[in-house]
Amino acid sequence: MTTDQPVHPHSTSPSPSSVRERIATTLERARARSTLLTDAVDEGDLVAQHSPLMSPLVWDLAHIGNQEELWLVRDVGGREPLRADIDELYDAFQHPRATRPRLPLLGPREARDYVRVVRDKTLDVLDATPLEGAPLIEGGFAFGMIAQHEQQHDETMLATHQLRRGEPVLADPEPPRARADATGRVVVTAGPCEIGTDHEPWALDNERPAHTMWIDEFAIARAPVTCGEYVEFIADGGYERPALWSSEGWQYRQDASLAAPLFWRREGEQWWRRRFGRDEPVPVDEPVMHVCFHEAEAFARWAGARLPTEHEWEKAARFDPATGRSRRYPWGDANPTAEHANLGQRHVRPAPVGAYPAGASPLGVQQLIGDVWEWTSSHFLPYPGFRFFPYAEYSEVFFGPDHRVLRGGSFGTDEVAIRGTFRNWDYPIRRQIFAGLRLAWDTGSAGPR
Ligand SMILES: [Fe+2]
Repeated sequence: MTTDQPVHPHSTSPSPSSVRERIATTLERARARSTLLTDAVDEGDLVAQHSPLMSPLVWDLAHIGNQEELWLVRDVGGREPLRADIDELYDAFQHPRATRPRLPLLGPREARDYVRVVRDKTLDVLDATPLEGAPLIEGGFAFGMIAQHEQQHDETMLATHQLRRGEPVLADPEPPRARADATGRVVVTAGPCEIGTDHEPWALDNERPAHTMWIDEFAIARAPVTCGEYVEFIADGGYERPALWSSEGWQYRQDASLAAPLFWRREGEQWWRRRFGRDEPVPVDEPVMHVCFHEAEAFARWAGARLPTEHEWEKAARFDPATGRSRRYPWGDANPTAEHANLGQRHVRPAPVGAYPAGASPLGVQQLIGDVWEWTSSHFLPYPGFRFFPYAEYSEVFFGPDHRVLRGGSFGTDEVAIRGTFRNWDYPIRRQIFAGLRLAWDTGSAGPR
């Protein structure tokens, strides 16, 4: 594992052999997880659609292999297609998720064979390719992009596991306990801050280019909103008071009969939740998740707060007041370890607030990375000077008012697919993702520009 190795964005580039090693390790870790998620259930569960929101797991698996074939074997490697006949089936833009079970998909055995053969060719290509000379391969970018893609689908497959009915099939090791006080808020003073990156070799097009933004003073909570706090919102009539909701949010709350986070139910005075096939009392000290943007926004209004913008979130996560520099992570530039953050499906739940003091930012903001994705108030828009890379369908087609940005990653996000600059986006009605929220406040003193 290369997870302990610090990578300094301003230092000299790592040698090609260490980049190759990191690529091989990262691809292997992604494949181990894809295998675990698909071997955990029987063939019936692999081909079934557990929710119209999700693909059958067997579609995700072959799609992972197909994207790897397209980008690494054919494009980077210049090799002959293995299965050009299936490209169309696994093109996410041609077939919405709800229609995928009706396609003549590869069966479980064919899909497993396919991804294995593709991976053998990828490793050949990795050996044979100089990792410089063209933007697609500079610093191993295409390999990093494909490793992130596989891990993003693994998180999606984990969400499918959560939607699946039946007995638990995933191991459930206990997350660390709360070890630090994480109550209250911190004030982030007004000033310029570098947002985005030019240095991170595997950063995606929407994280680029780096640019300086003035951020007015604001306050931000030291921890995400907990289930216990969310229970108070429900008890105080949060779902019954239109004044707390935007008009669009209230419409959706009525249409979808929202009354609590997804997977929650109430028995008497006790809230319960279903989590990967287990029924358990809702843990009061854990970040709330499975709330949509509209619920997050209503909670924030109820609490006398608001959601942070994605730029405020990024400043809270990256800005080091001592140096004025934006770092890779809240704790600095070192890659995440198990001490820093709850990532990579190490646990299949968020950890209690206060469980990761070593992951705190210089101002003491905790659990920005890992545990739950955090809804921000920002629409998903291009940074100034944005250029799509390597293709417009990666980010550009999603820019606009339809999506809101989420930051920070969840317990189901692998470290390769998260950093202080990473931007996720989704529809404001999405609830099956591992998303919660963190509060922010105006402080009323903007300061000079
Ligand atoms: Fe995909």
